[in-house]
Amino acid sequence: MRYPDEVIDEVRSRNDIVSVIEQYVTLKRAGSGYQGLCPFHSEKTPSFHVTPSRQMYKCFGCQKGGNVFTFIMEYENVSFPEALRILADRVGYQLPKIAESETSAELRTKRERMLSLYKEAAEYYYKKLRSDAGKYGMEYFTGRKLTPETMRQFGLGYSDGRLYNELKGRYDDPFLRESGLFTFRENGGAGDKFFNRVMFPIFDNNGKVIAFGGRVMGDGQPKYLNSPESLIFNKSRNLYHLNQARRSRRGYLILCEGYMDVISLTQAGFDNAVATLGTALTEQQAQILARFTKDVVLTYDSDGAGQKAIDRAIPILYSAGIRARVVDMSPYKDPDEFIKNLGAEEYEKRIRDARSSYRFEMEYLQTQFGDITSTDNTDGANAFVDAAARWMIRYEDELERETYMKAFCKDYNVNYQAFVKRVNRLGAEELGRKAAEAVRAQQEAARAAEVLDGDGEVQTPPAGRAAKRDEILNTQDYLVTILAGVPKARKIIRKYLTIEDFTGSVYQKVVQLCYDNPEHDPVDAAKLVSRFESAEEQRLAADMMSDEMAMKTEDISKAVEDAVMKMVKRRTENQLAKAKEENNLKEAARIMRESRKETESLRMRLRAEVY
Ligand code: UTP
Ligand code: MN
Repeated sequence: MRYPDEVIDEVRSRNDIVSVIEQYVTLKRAGSGYQGLCPFHSEKTPSFHVTPSRQMYKCFGCQKGGNVFTFIMEYENVSFPEALRILADRVGYQLPKIAESETSAELRTKRERMLSLYKEAAEYYYKKLRSDAGKYGMEYFTGRKLTPETMRQFGLGYSDGRLYNELKGRYDDPFLRESGLFTFRENGGAGDKFFNRVMFPIFDNNGKVIAFGGRVMGDGQPKYLNSPESLIFNKSRNLYHLNQARRSRRGYLILCEGYMDVISLTQAGFDNAVATLGTALTEQQAQILARFTKDVVLTYDSDGAGQKAIDRAIPILYSAGIRARVVDMSPYKDPDEFIKNLGAEEYEKRIRDARSSYRFEMEYLQTQFGDITSTDNTDGANAFVDAAARWMIRYEDELERETYMKAFCKDYNVNYQAFVKRVNRLGAEELGRKAAEAVRAQQEAARAAEVLDGDGEVQTPPAGRAAKRDEILNTQDYLVTILAGVPKARKIIRKYLTIEDFTGSVYQKVVQLCYDNPEHDPVDAAKLVSRFESAEEQRLAADMMSDEMAMKTEDISKAVEDAVMKMVKRRTENQLAKAKEENNLKEAARIMRESRKETESLRMRLRAEVY
């Protein structure tokens, strides 16, 4: 079950793509359309295009594209039915009741139930902390100088290990097991995962509890226990306290390692602190941060592990368009300790004096090559300059890179001309490596497509097959674009090519929809894209219909003729391969004979048709 096509079309036509995307991206007029910075990858020059006449968007940088539904699905990371709901709500359109597909309705109910279970759990822990059972928990937090107000603000709690008893009547065991808050033993017994720990609820951006961290009070392993990822929790897409910190007026965000760091900072008046969730910073988290600010201050632990984590985080933030700064907390270990000892004002100063990522990285790099000023360590010094040069090529912007190269040469007394040469040489090497990688990736993708459209059997394609595969895909793209855009040509193509001549389920469905379209009308691309449910299929469909060259080709008839011929040739090749596989040599010979005759007459017929 899904919403009827009329409903989908109604919602789509009420949501003009430009006005929807404008809520997320700053768009400027460009020719007959609009352009802006792509929200799906980081860039400095706009390659994201919105075309009102087609009601489609496309990024020429990261290749993402589709219609208004695809956009919401990709941007909000939601399913098709959810995107439909969001857009219906946006224009005050009442969706009919039946329409939601059963599975997605089920999933939604399940998610809602899971959220309410987590809410109940959070309330339970919260209450326990403030009861007799939570006495030690309360002492623990008070010992760490948290005020009752802070404890309330962060929803802190305490687990006495009796949550299972509390909930078991109202939720079935499989569901409780799926929540990840309980452990089920082989023999059938069940109990709490969190026992005798102080509890830190983790909220999503809507203020809903989606996970917990639980800390032992004192020493013990593991120090923090985290609830697992679940249908409501993805730890690489969420950040601790972001739902509050994003409202801060400070204009920048402080990124920490730990829950306690965030809490301490907040209590000291820094309402803009967030933390990762027990893992290293991910690209998605960086992208999320970048939506709120381009100014991020890193305040990770001063120890080796913390510094290494900063070194890892800086390029990830950079790729998301964030120029990070790094706070020096010496002689203290983390913001929590620092503030306890030196206070908020001193911390404010440290933020003001935060090192640029350039300075941090150079100082950090230097520590890895020994005493580079020593005449006994010229190798080390040389390797350091090399590493620094390698770091410079990360900056694609010439002016920015020049600034850093100049600073480096001045700081470390290195000859500028020689350094620039080295950076350029390394840059060229890197480019070569990237190009090779891109080719490999493309081949992989083609191979994956092959496997997907085939009978599911994984085969290693012979060398050269990938390139050939691409050509056939290009032909299919071309034909689909023409099918959608040129009704006259559609009539002809349809005569010679069946749905089965196209490879891949998305292609086949798009072709089917084109064939079903009223004969004299162009296909509404955005409408057609809505016939697919997953963002991936929508993107594929949008892609194949936007073959840039197709509509520009002067001689469409000739191009159509060639494309149809190519497809027919492939059909014959496939038949031939099948016959050979079955060892049916007679049949193979027949196909070859027929096809030679066929090809000639086909070309004649096509010509007659087209001209
Ligand atoms: P830290 O060990 O630095 O803890 O881990 P912390 O936040 O400073 O906490 P306190 O001050 O010792 O109480 C930083 C973060 O790494 C994750 C948690 O998210 C923690 O906040 N972590 C740490 C775990 O997930 N498991 C662990 O066992 C330890
Ligand atoms: Mn810490």
